[in-house]
Amino acid sequence: MALHMAMDVVRDSHVSLTAQIQDFIKREIGEGALHPGTRLPSSRRLADDLDVSRSVVVEAYGQLVAEGYLEAAQGAGTRVVQHLTARPVVPTLLEEDRAAGARWDLLPGGGNLPAFPRREWLGCYERVLCSAGPDAHAYPPLAGAPGLRTELARYLGRVRGVRAAPQDIAVMAGFSQALALLCEVLREQGVGAIGVEDPGHPGQRQFIRESGLRPVPLPVDDRGLDVGALAATGLRAVLVTPAHQYPTGMTLSPERREALVRWAHDTGGLIVEDDYDGGLWYAREPRPLALQRLAPEHVVYAGTASKTLAPGLRLGWVAAPPELLGLLLRIRARHDLGTETLTQLAFAELLRCGLLDRHLRRLNAQARSRRHALEEAVRRDLPGAAVTGAAAGLHSYVRLPRHTDEAALVAGALRASVAVRGAAAFHARPLAAPPALVIGHAHLPRSGIAEAVRLLRGVRGC
Ligand SMILES: Cc1ncc(COP(=O)(O)O)c(C=O)c1O
Repeated sequence: MALHMAMDVVRDSHVSLTAQIQDFIKREIGEGALHPGTRLPSSRRLADDLDVSRSVVVEAYGQLVAEGYLEAAQGAGTRVVQHLTARPVVPTLLEEDRAAGARWDLLPGGGNLPAFPRREWLGCYERVLCSAGPDAHAYPPLAGAPGLRTELARYLGRVRGVRAAPQDIAVMAGFSQALALLCEVLREQGVGAIGVEDPGHPGQRQFIRESGLRPVPLPVDDRGLDVGALAATGLRAVLVTPAHQYPTGMTLSPERREALVRWAHDTGGLIVEDDYDGGLWYAREPRPLALQRLAPEHVVYAGTASKTLAPGLRLGWVAAPPELLGLLLRIRARHDLGTETLTQLAFAELLRCGLLDRHLRRLNAQARSRRHALEEAVRRDLPGAAVTGAAAGLHSYVRLPRHTDEAALVAGALRASVAVRGAAAFHARPLAAPPALVIGHAHLPRSGIAEAVRLLRGVRGC
């Protein structure tokens, strides 16, 4: 392995060359530049690079091994030892981390992922890598690769009824980037607050707050967002999940959809439609089309590949009115120079060949079966509880009987090796929240779901 290390020696120094090499390596380890486990160049290569005799480097390495800074293994070269500069592990309170030791992980988000279509992705990636011209390696257009914008316009129109031409669409690093840019646009326009659903995504509330806007919680009931409450606030922007409310799973009723669009028309308000779980819909009733189609001039429609493929791709998209799209991209140019091109082209190919449709058909069949397993288990083992909301997405909302101590149930569940999230954290006023669980079930076998719910039955608080 022809490794290189940024190092220099001073030839006319009173410090010997061997000592200079030793001092350099010790200092770089001490300052955290040379990390535990880092493999160093061979003595021959370093001697060549420094233009010194090989015995100088051999002696320096040998001394550092003797002092415990380096270790040399037959065939594995010379490395910085593992234990020297390892940083202490910082304990974290994130539920995802706590779930690591739990036998059953029912947490939504994070690791709650269906299988990634590796073979299909690899095929698409290979095809675009082999056929792409030099443009694929240049800086990407800020709004996204034209090929992907075209495929997204076709796909979103066909599957979600979105009314947008390719030039109305921009590719983003997930919904989160779209939200971050929108917050900046709104702030620049003098908008200080945005309505958010309550319960809603706690991370998004915090994100909005840290972006300098005030998230104003608006109640959600069995028909979705309370549009009357929104109208009473005088707000000029609102963030909604109309198809599958996060986390309750409710679908915005037709009357509320109309009322929301009327609100936007009457006030000039902006609706941010978070269509986060894309084509994941396995309910019997037909999936409502995107709200955006009712008022493209007032709605920013946003989607993501995070639920249907993988959040690690950081791939999302918006369809927005032209002026607003221009503003979003102007602000984006302050932050980054676009989304990596080959990933965009591979995704475009996945859409073009109908492979995403096929993947989603498989996912939906799997998710439907897991949802049924959850419904059966809840009916059998949690009397008085009920799975509510549309059968869609990667999670379900389980309402618990009124008297349930949600916090005790969550803590007891973890002791029984079941990691589960209570609904309180999703509410703006957690103490007033009716008890419920938000359960991620995309990655679990049916038998695992049944076993985990059976364990919940034995836990105090139920
Ligand atoms: C409500 C909601 N919106 C959007 C997203 C996706 O965000 P991103 O596309 O940045 O991964 C998630 C992911 O967990 C979500 O729960």
